[in-house]
Amino acid sequence: MKKDHFDSEKMRKIIQSPLQIGNVIVKNRLALAPLAGTTEVVFRSICNQFNVGLTTTELVSARGICYDPKLIRNYCYLEIDPTKEDQVSIQLFGHDPADFTKAAQIILQHPVLGKCSMLDINMGCPMKKIVKQGAGSALLTNPILAQRIVNSTAEVAARYNKPVSVKIRSGWDRESINAPEFAKLMQEAGSAMITIHARTREQIYSGSADWNVIKQTVEQVSVPVYGNGDLTDLDSISKMYDQTGCAGFAIGRAALGNPWIFREILNNSCRPDRVDLVEVIVKHLDGMIVKIGDESVAIKKMRPQLASYLKGKRNAAKIRNLIMKANSKQEILEILNLIQ
Ligand SMILES: Cc1cc2nc3c(=O)[nH]c(=O)nc-3n(C[C@H](O)[C@H](O)[C@H](O)COP(=O)(O)O)c2cc1C
Repeated sequence: MKKDHFDSEKMRKIIQSPLQIGNVIVKNRLALAPLAGTTEVVFRSICNQFNVGLTTTELVSARGICYDPKLIRNYCYLEIDPTKEDQVSIQLFGHDPADFTKAAQIILQHPVLGKCSMLDINMGCPMKKIVKQGAGSALLTNPILAQRIVNSTAEVAARYNKPVSVKIRSGWDRESINAPEFAKLMQEAGSAMITIHARTREQIYSGSADWNVIKQTVEQVSVPVYGNGDLTDLDSISKMYDQTGCAGFAIGRAALGNPWIFREILNNSCRPDRVDLVEVIVKHLDGMIVKIGDESVAIKKMRPQLASYLKGKRNAAKIRNLIMKANSKQEILEILNLIQ
């Protein structure tokens, strides 16, 4: 019992320590992994309130940005708020190095987006429509192209003093696990950090993450490696650290509806009570209404996220059903009164 407490405190000290990524110092070892549809500026700002060290936007098409240089369509996905976000990375996907050169330029010369901490390149997305273009996890099968993409992005980013990182998976399928060698090539091309989701593309999100591949990747590179896949609490982080020695920990699904997870892990703080929970849900909702500019559209978009805040609550199923039909903030506020 005493030893457990000692080990937890030792692990907390490691997690609380800063990490250097290129010329950027991240205040602690916890990151919010990018989650399309969730990790937009409002949710990321809330995670910052609970002390997350690093967050990332959802993946945005480098080519899409090239076709939209004034960022009329893409700004909502790229948006950051340097007044509420500490370290934030902007994630791009694509398959053409020239697109990355141009997109990086557009982002980094923008008065607000240029304040991001770094650029991240998606080499892990398993979705057919992305992979079909040769982007996302398809790049794991084409390390030469992947290197050219990192190189092109890093060349532009260096002019703005920003590091570039990559987010990869273990490999394409179980017969072609190549993350360790691949990560080394990305480091040689200019990647200052690697995040590895320890599943193959074939697994999508099924089965469990094989953290041994994280360990092998850590052994191959000198840049910091964030381990990712199935982290849910201090205990799983301690296990990943013991097994892999990775420098940072990226938490994805376990942060959905649970931005407190970062504070809990860092400071052993209590779970939120009902008042805290409702306060954060309303803040998230209000932020989305302002961002989208239309209450009912914002609520429709946010229904799944609102529902995710209810995990583990006694009458969650009933409240979730009501949320799925709600169209106004007033209705949501009345529904939230049912939380016990
Ligand atoms: C709904 C959803 C959206 C995701 N969107 C992205 C994304 O935009 N970019 C990315 O690199 N990874 C994305 N991922 C992968 C996560 O960042 C993470 O690698 C994966 O969920 C494993 O971590 P976890 O077990 O902590 O959830 C997404 C995952 C999910 C479930």
